[in-house]
This record gives sequence, C-alpha cells and structure tokens, in this order.
Amino acid sequence: MSKSEIKNLIKITDLSKDEIDHLIEIADQIEANPKGFSEMCRHKKLATLFFEPSTRTRLSFTAAMMELGGDVLGFDDAGSSSATKGESVSDTVVMAGCYADIIAMRHPKEGAPVIASQKTTVPLINAGDGGHFHPTQTLTDLLTISRKKQLGNFTIGLCGDLMFGRTVHSLIEALLRYEGIKFILISPPELRLPKYVKDEMDEAGAEWTECEALEDAMPDLDILYMTRVQRERFFNEEDYVRLRDSYILTLDKLKTAKDDMIIMHPLPRVNEIAVEVDDDPRACYFYQALCGKHIRMALILYLLGLK
Ligand code: NCD
Repeated sequence: MSKSEIKNLIKITDLSKDEIDHLIEIADQIEANPKGFSEMCRHKKLATLFFEPSTRTRLSFTAAMMELGGDVLGFDDAGSSSATKGESVSDTVVMAGCYADIIAMRHPKEGAPVIASQKTTVPLINAGDGGHFHPTQTLTDLLTISRKKQLGNFTIGLCGDLMFGRTVHSLIEALLRYEGIKFILISPPELRLPKYVKDEMDEAGAEWTECEALEDAMPDLDILYMTRVQRERFFNEEDYVRLRDSYILTLDKLKTAKDDMIIMHPLPRVNEIAVEVDDDPRACYFYQALCGKHIRMALILYLLGLK
C-alpha cells in the first residue's frame, strides 16, 4: 500500500457514517457465520503496541485477529519495550510496520497516535490515547446499540467521569451523526464533560442537559452508559478517593428505570455497577465486550482492504 492509500483510525470521525454502517454489517455477518471468515487474514500479522494497560481492548484485538486466521505480535507494557531505552513512539511504530500488516496502539499521551500515523507504512488503529479518544470502543458501542436498540431516536444517559472518560468523548462524537438522540450528562461538577465536546454538541444542534443525580435522569433513559472514575488521569489521590464512588448502580436504583433500558459500560468496572445488577436482563456490558471482538474483526478486514 502506498502512504496515501493507507487508512488509519485515529478518531471516530475518520470513518464516515456509511463506513460505520458497512463495519456493522460485516460484524453481523461474522456473528452469523464466523467460520466463513476464519481464513481471511491467513499470513497477515497484527502488532499490538500497548504503552498503557489494557485487558479487553488488547485481548479482543488479539482474539479478532486469531479468529480471522492471522497472527499477533507486540507488547502489553511499555516497560518491556525499547521505550525504556528512550526510543520514540514514532520509531517503535515504524519498526512495527516492518513486521506487521496492521498496528493497534494504545498510549497514555493524547495525540501520540496522530504523530505515529504520520510515519507508518501500514494502517494504524488508535486503541486509546490518554483522556482523548477511543474509536474502537465507540465502534463496539455502536454495534451493541444497533443490535439491542437502533441507532437513533433514544435518550442516553452518560454517567460518571465524563471529563477523563475517552470512551464517552468518542461515543458522543459518533452519536451526533444520528437523528433524534437526547443526551443527559450525569456527573459530579468536577468531572463534567470537557468544553470542546460540548461545543461540538452545540455545533451539531444536539439536545443535551447536565445533571448530578442519576436518580433524576433514570426514568427517561433508553440507554444508561456507566463509566469508571479514571484514577490514572487524576492529579492527586485525594480527589480520586472523594469522587470514585459518586455513582453506584444497584438494583434498587434501577426500580425507576424503563423495563427495556439497556445498561452499558466499556469496562473495567470498579464500584460503579454492583455485581447484583449483572443478572438483570437490562445489563449488557459483557455482551458489549463480545461485540468488541466482532467489530474489531470487521475493522481489521476493512483497513486491510479485504472487505
Ligand atoms: C476503557 C478505556 O480504556 O478507556 N476501557 C476499554 O477499553 N474497554 C474504559 C476505562 O478504562 O475505564
């Protein structure tokens, strides 16, 4: 592939709405007939370069490539890479492109994947950059919503750490392209959504409100998207300890929720959803993790030009 033909995924708006629909369609075909896809990436390699911890994202990328018949190489800890010797992220990524056909990269610094993508010779996927973006989690969320509800005409409550939660930022950007969505932003005052995302919502003419009490929003919600307070992005531990248990979803709190509301969470959860909620039919966060594998399979195929 020449440099101009390489398609990267750094932020969710790098994909058009039609491209997202296409990925959702492939993911649904994969779910219906996984065997039909099991040889498609034979002799292809995915490099997973994780400079920041991850469980689901890295495992689902790995599982996705394996189910496509391909191989995976990489590291899951910057400490075991040449970053400790002072190698730049760009150099690591260019080097990985010599060994792999596609790269998924996670980095604690906002913008690191954009810089890296200027040098790569193979498609680069941002698997999360600091408190910025997480486009493949958004694809996962869109696939989950499309399978459980429909993409449009619902009220979604985004609850928890809206300041540092990159999954929320990317999801909002994606949902702004669909019709009839009302956003309720539920957070403590200290963890409100950043202004640049609110500005994007205003520019798109989105309907949104902000509140602090989850109970106030609950009866109106079709989707409740819970998030973890992002400890690693706090400047001091005291603030984290004060805010970490701002929201704990329990069966009791769900009493006023709609029967067909769905509860989503990008995971990992800490305390924000009590384990008793897992058996409630509205809980779909583990199903969401499964959707993450299907959509990453679709994305790999698409960026490699195979679908
Ligand atoms: C999220 C992330 O890394 O931003 N996790 C994930 O990829 N599923 C959410 C989080 O860490 O809270």
